[in-house]
Amino acid sequence: MADLPSLIFGMESSCDETSAAVIDADDRILGHVVLSQDEHEVYGGVVPELAARAHLRSIDAVADAALRQAGVRGNEIDLWSVTAGPGLIGSLLVGVSWTKAAAFGYRRPFVACHHMEAHLFAASLEDPDACPPFVGLLVSGGHTLLLHAGAWGEYTLLGETRDDAVGEAFDKVAKLLGMGYPGGPEIERAAAAGEPHFQLPRPMVKGRAGQPGDPAYFDFSFSGLKTAVAVLVEKIGDPTPRSADLAASFQAAAVDVLATKVMRAVARTGCRRVLVGGGVAANKALRAELMRRLRPHGSLHFASPRLSLDNGAMIARTARFRYARDGASPWDTDASASLAFPGLTSISNAGHDRRTFRHGTAAAAN
Ligand code: KG4
Ligand code: ZN
Repeated sequence: MADLPSLIFGMESSCDETSAAVIDADDRILGHVVLSQDEHEVYGGVVPELAARAHLRSIDAVADAALRQAGVRGNEIDLWSVTAGPGLIGSLLVGVSWTKAAAFGYRRPFVACHHMEAHLFAASLEDPDACPPFVGLLVSGGHTLLLHAGAWGEYTLLGETRDDAVGEAFDKVAKLLGMGYPGGPEIERAAAAGEPHFQLPRPMVKGRAGQPGDPAYFDFSFSGLKTAVAVLVEKIGDPTPRSADLAASFQAAAVDVLATKVMRAVARTGCRRVLVGGGVAANKALRAELMRRLRPHGSLHFASPRLSLDNGAMIARTARFRYARDGASPWDTDASASLAFPGLTSISNAGHDRRTFRHGTAAAAN
């Protein structure tokens, strides 16, 4: 393998953000640009065909701006990296094709990254303690995953959503309440002015799912919670006068479920370091609740809001690890809407205990 790369370029275009970043050998972010596609707001959600076209229109300018901010030229980049999946296939294709072309043109290697693994790496750009072993909660618009990371690249899946992702639930509830897209920040803003007066369900927390041996013990379900809000809204008629309380009630229920499952994972694994990644990690109520429940013995690690949302810097950071471990990606690597999470193994909830989880290991060098 060639020398370890110093300057790494990261491109992210899996959904509705076109983002590019340059990081140096010490993971300092030298240039970082995120362009959000506001045009989806009028449709109340991302329109895949429009997203792909918007990426195509702006990708050159976003990449140029990131390089300019970093004060480097394309031929000084040692390694080019990109999100290859999961995500919207048209959007992914734009980023993958562009990045492969740039790497090929400059005769440099390229690395295809997994979007959700990149969300795990985001916090480590700002916080040296945000490294394995940890319990990881990944919460985005497309995924809700609970895992244990014994080392970078070695992940054990504990639980995942059986229907909607939690970010998707935030977006759908915001739509029900007549708020804009993306719904997460809107719900958070409205909730700050309300009280959680409405009783809403905590799916998969009690009953059979509350038993440690049950397959649903670590899993999530957010579709029923969204439906419960829809039923309330229908009963109320015009939700506007109560939208702050409805938002606060929904947020409280979602946060309660997430925090409960995280604490179950902490108890099961014996690992008290918790890392949260993905767009929903920007939510202050989630941060505060996890902090409250982990105190005084645990530690909580989040990326700052700008690195919790989709961004190119987390891709470049992931590429540093993946290149050192696996080398360059082959030139025929393609975008994949449902790319498998590298290094993620699934074990049944019933069949493992604390001894399965390694904690003495030092964090992987990268
Ligand atoms: O990771 P991300 O930027 O994109 C995906 O990979 O999906 O996550 C986007 C999701 C959206 O569903 C958005 O509503 C949610 O993250 N989100 C939030 C907040 N900011 C973004 N959810 C709750 N509270 C927030 N402050
Ligand atoms: Zn994301």
